[in-house]
Amino acid sequence: MANQKATNVTWQDGEISREDRFNILSQRGATIWFTGLSGSGKSTIAVALERALYNIGKLSYRLDGDNVRLGINKNLGFSEADRKENIRRIGEVAKLFGDSGVLALSSFISPYRGDRLEVRELHEQSGLEFIEVFVDCSLAEAEKRDPKGLYKKARAGEIKNFTGIDDPYEAPKNPEIHLRSDKMTLEEEVQIILDHLEQNNFIMSDDLAVAGAAS
Ligand code: ADX
Repeated sequence: MANQKATNVTWQDGEISREDRFNILSQRGATIWFTGLSGSGKSTIAVALERALYNIGKLSYRLDGDNVRLGINKNLGFSEADRKENIRRIGEVAKLFGDSGVLALSSFISPYRGDRLEVRELHEQSGLEFIEVFVDCSLAEAEKRDPKGLYKKARAGEIKNFTGIDDPYEAPKNPEIHLRSDKMTLEEEVQIILDHLEQNNFIMSDDLAVAGAAS
């Protein structure tokens, strides 16, 4: 993690606690961290999950690789150091969302195990849960999909340091959720995550019952 540069700074508490915020939203904030190759389906699953949660009145917010790289992280590229800083900043932002009571849906390749572990530890230190979702898809399938035409460019040598081609991807060893996006349907994937959220009391089963009755 980055070193503390500023001195004489201390955390300021307010009058409203995390529990208070969770209570008014009737949900528990947390970070759902999607990791996987480019084209594996991270963003697609996050979009579908956001919709499914919205339909049962649950608030989530997507933090997406491309979007974040157009804003807060526009000064970062794809070197190992820049990817590390990308993940560190997003980890901090996701933590703030979780603390606010929102379910942060983070979709970043986040190829390095150590970087993801640091974000996990950051959450654990502040008593927030980090749910790692491995969006597992073979390189062959991701390359076949190639939704942005980037694998083609990487193979042609037009993009350097492309994950899976000439840059590494370190798969999670013990993710909370393991999705096989080259074998499962989008609906199955969303359901697995919703079940996990319900079983671990991030959302209540009453909410799902209401959603079932409405659909
Ligand atoms: S991460 O490695 O730092 O986690 P992130 O998820 O933010 O990556 O950004 C990945 C997205 O940037 C890809 O989906 C792709 O659209 C684009 N991209 C552009 N260049 C590269 C590259 N060299 N490696 C991986 N993704 C790239």
